Amino acid sequence: MDSLYQTILNSLSSAMITVDVKGRIISANIPALRILGYDNDKNIIGKHIDEIIPANGSVNPFIESINKKKPLKRKEFTVINKKGEKLYLGITTSLIEDAKYDFTGVIGLMTDLTKIKNMQDKLKQKENLAILGEMTAVMAHEIKNPLTGIKFGIEYLKTILEDNQDAVESIELILNEIKQLERIARDMTSFARMPNISSEKFNLVQLIEDKIKIHRSEMKEKKININFNKCSDCINYYGDPYLLSEVFNNLLRNSIESFDNSCNKKDINIEIRFNDDNDTCLIIVKDTGIGIKEDNQKKIFIPFFTTKRGGTGLGLPTVQRIVIAHNGALTLNSKLGKGTTFIIELPSIVCNE
Ligand SMILES: Nc1ncnc2c1ncn2[C@@H]1O[C@H](COP(=O)(O)OP(=O)(O)OP(=O)(O)O)[C@@H](O)[C@H]1O
Ligand SMILES: [Mg+2]
Repeated sequence: MDSLYQTILNSLSSAMITVDVKGRIISANIPALRILGYDNDKNIIGKHIDEIIPANGSVNPFIESINKKKPLKRKEFTVINKKGEKLYLGITTSLIEDAKYDFTGVIGLMTDLTKIKNMQDKLKQKENLAILGEMTAVMAHEIKNPLTGIKFGIEYLKTILEDNQDAVESIELILNEIKQLERIARDMTSFARMPNISSEKFNLVQLIEDKIKIHRSEMKEKKININFNKCSDCINYYGDPYLLSEVFNNLLRNSIESFDNSCNKKDINIEIRFNDDNDTCLIIVKDTGIGIKEDNQKKIFIPFFTTKRGGTGLGLPTVQRIVIAHNGALTLNSKLGKGTTFIIELPSIVCNE
């Protein structure tokens, strides 16, 4: 009977876990084990559900259902599984009662919503970027118009005050500041345009090698070690080489600028590999630089956010827009004092010929 019950559970396409009233796992079928990253149920049975599906700040739906003695409908729950993957699960629970209607545990059906959630996030990101682009274009336009008037006015003042050396010097200073504002307005205008992709087949490994070459002497002078881990499968890529070149230029520049005297090691590691699991091409840019404060990690993709003197803060927002325009994704992993990793995931339109 037991093995028939187990066979039925494993034949279900839905992931299912049952727990007793104390939250200890009684059974987990194969789809549930697969989602949670386990090969078999040996290390799961008898464990508390919070141990296997960590609560992560919110209340575990299994525990909520036990505490309230109520079934729950499609509770969304984020977990990091045994393989370290971040998953979004939809969990629906029902109560288990014995023949005397005594409450003996909870059954939970889990649906992996990760792919749907990631797609929704990407769409939202695209929408947000389009709105941001429109706002930036309007702001640039509003800055440019009065600026042109101010510039002409000041230049006229300069002609009538040309005999007054002090006044001319002050006017020159103002004109320099105007130039700076004009540059910002120009950057804003070019940022506002969603990159127009013009795709062609090109050698992705060569493109990254060329970017490294451009910065090699600077890295040598600053005693930065660079290592490029290539894979032969990902040589030919179909995308926009000029835009992607801008992506690697920005990421490499940021990594070069990420070292200060507190850094024991000055290593930049670039890796490119083909991810068979979801048919994507991964490009990983990792440095052992100063890292990014947790607070700032949310801000670095916002246009004009910079912690550098003379930085425009448009590097990463531009990188993000180009990656999204290629239907890819950009993720960040950074620890203050340890370093930063950017992972670019591009849909794999890799041609091997
Ligand atoms: N690899 C990195 N290590 C540490 N901090 C980083 C790294 N990459 C980006 N940052 C942080 O993110 C901020 C924004 O980066 P972004 O490239 O958008 O602009 P910027 O580098 O400041 O200016 P610009 O790219 O115009 O020269 C940086 O000022 C820095 O604080
Ligand atoms: Mg930058």
